Amino acid sequence: MTRALGVCYYPEHWPEEQWPEDARRMAETGIEWVRIGEFAWSRLEPVPGDLRFDWLDRAIAVLADAGLKIVLGTPTATPPRWMLTRHPDMLAHDAQGRPRGFGSRRHYCLSHMGYREECRRIATLLGERYGRDPRIHAWQIDNEYGCHHTTLSFSPAALNRFRGWLRDRYGTIEALNAAWGNVFWSMEYGAFDEIGLPHLTVTEPNPAHVMAFRRFASDETVAFNRVQVDALRPLTDAPLSHNYMGRVLEFDHFAVGADLEIATWDSYPIGFLSDRLEADAAHKQRFLRQGDPDMQAFHHDLYRAVGRGRWWVMEQQPGPVNWAPFNPAPLDGMVRLWTWEAFAHGAEVVSYFRWRQAPFAQEQMHAGLLRPDSAPAPGLAEAETVAQELAAFPGDATTVQAPVALAFDYASAWAWETQPQGADFDYFRLVFEAYRALRRAGLSVDILPVGAAIPEGYRLVLVPGCAALPAGWAERLAESGAVVILGPRTNAKTPEMATPLPLPPGIPGLDVTVTRVESLPPSEARLVEGGGQVLHWAESLEGGAPVRLAGTGGAPVLVGDGALRYLAGWPDATLWGRILSDCGLPSEALPDGLRLRDLGAWRFAFNYAPEPVTWQGRTLPAAGVAWWLRDTE
Ligand code: GAL
Repeated sequence: MTRALGVCYYPEHWPEEQWPEDARRMAETGIEWVRIGEFAWSRLEPVPGDLRFDWLDRAIAVLADAGLKIVLGTPTATPPRWMLTRHPDMLAHDAQGRPRGFGSRRHYCLSHMGYREECRRIATLLGERYGRDPRIHAWQIDNEYGCHHTTLSFSPAALNRFRGWLRDRYGTIEALNAAWGNVFWSMEYGAFDEIGLPHLTVTEPNPAHVMAFRRFASDETVAFNRVQVDALRPLTDAPLSHNYMGRVLEFDHFAVGADLEIATWDSYPIGFLSDRLEADAAHKQRFLRQGDPDMQAFHHDLYRAVGRGRWWVMEQQPGPVNWAPFNPAPLDGMVRLWTWEAFAHGAEVVSYFRWRQAPFAQEQMHAGLLRPDSAPAPGLAEAETVAQELAAFPGDATTVQAPVALAFDYASAWAWETQPQGADFDYFRLVFEAYRALRRAGLSVDILPVGAAIPEGYRLVLVPGCAALPAGWAERLAESGAVVILGPRTNAKTPEMATPLPLPPGIPGLDVTVTRVESLPPSEARLVEGGGQVLHWAESLEGGAPVRLAGTGGAPVLVGDGALRYLAGWPDATLWGRILSDCGLPSEALPDGLRLRDLGAWRFAFNYAPEPVTWQGRTLPAAGVAWWLRDTE
């Protein structure tokens, strides 16, 4: 397996005379890959039909002459201004029904067929010119679907295609009315053309309507991406990729990923801790300059699954970013740590965003590997260190199956966003806390899509919060040889967002029924006998399944004595630890901030703590990374 460094570069931002020096310095740093082109449409086609690929030819030549492999991006995340004149109705609309403005990026509506055709055209032109060019080693389609909340569009184009999607799904309006329960509040429709998008209603719209719209929006993302896949595929043998974002759940990444060879993602650890993670002030302060110890690893494992084993970090934070509420600089050593952590999770390439900090426009406060004046920024030396370490690292380490797996399901994220029932019920948060518990116990984790085949060999599979299990999947889980813990809220909805009857969870072979659910405010915790608490969400159970863990009042919390077990609440960290030891897994937590990851015969350790930690006789400094052969432990 290859492991290499890359960088994101924007030749169109810099005078051409500077390119050779930039390319030389990249190579000298030990960088092997460079991504270009993904926002360059206004320079590739300044006016419609006037194609200017000559500068890109020269940029490719300069970079390749320095020995760099090129990832070429299609520029469709940034349609130029003339595109709007050509397609005035191509803008996405926000939930208030207002068109998005021109002047940043991602302003297009995924459902606009005229814009899709423009994307097909530019992807085809690029494919025809560069598809067989041996200097182009991979492609990136578009940039960060869903970023800046751009999956849902309430535009006339989206409405039109939503109605068609509903017709295909339900066939008749009677079937739709029945599936959605539209008899409630006299919401019945007489024809598909009467249906609107689920917004601007007086109080909440029908959850079935919202869920249908969420599924539609996800399908539109897949369809939008597929236009460019279909354009490029016949024109190139190089792998196609897309760069996903952190904690963006608005579309089914597994479905987009199925059309691509490589999944990549954009990792901004300090920005993410600051702007998209629930954590108390002490945790945010402790990890202020390192990022959360599990957030990067979670996405590495998630996107490894999306890429069916092939994945990269396409954008790695190299210094302070510009977009979070607060933007501190990484602790010395963290750029190296983040990079090695990705390799330990199986990344083929880690590519820094960006080469040089731009002195103009929106991201002028975002660090690069170089300062705006081309002097090295602190991240550069750390990248150089990793390049040297990589060269010395044995090449035979590849990803092996982890002892535990965690199931992930985008549709459950939409279901619980549609009907959270409690302000603190969030699907990502629930799954992420389960992941954190596994990692605090020192375990490497595989993430699997809900419904996937379960390879033999797992000791434990966790399936938290899955709103609707695919038919037959519970039976297959039961036969996987692993202990499987389902819940809370398992099978609590039909795919049409109704309550199933008989009542959930309806798990074959497990005599348990959820008779009542409660959401809890932060002030309320339910104590569990022997230690730990249930927070945010608690279920009352009936049935004969043996109780393994119970609340202090006797209410069952974990039940079942076969392969499949049911969890009737949202555990705190202590309770997660007890659940793991109940399954025979290690329960002793690692020192705070230390994380392990196995790669082949190697064990890696990463210290996210701001102070040194010692574990099993090994001391790691703050931001330290260590690796050793497991059989030397
Ligand atoms: C990413 C994006 C890049 C750049 C970067 C800044 O989300 O793909 O183009 O904006 O963030 O951190």
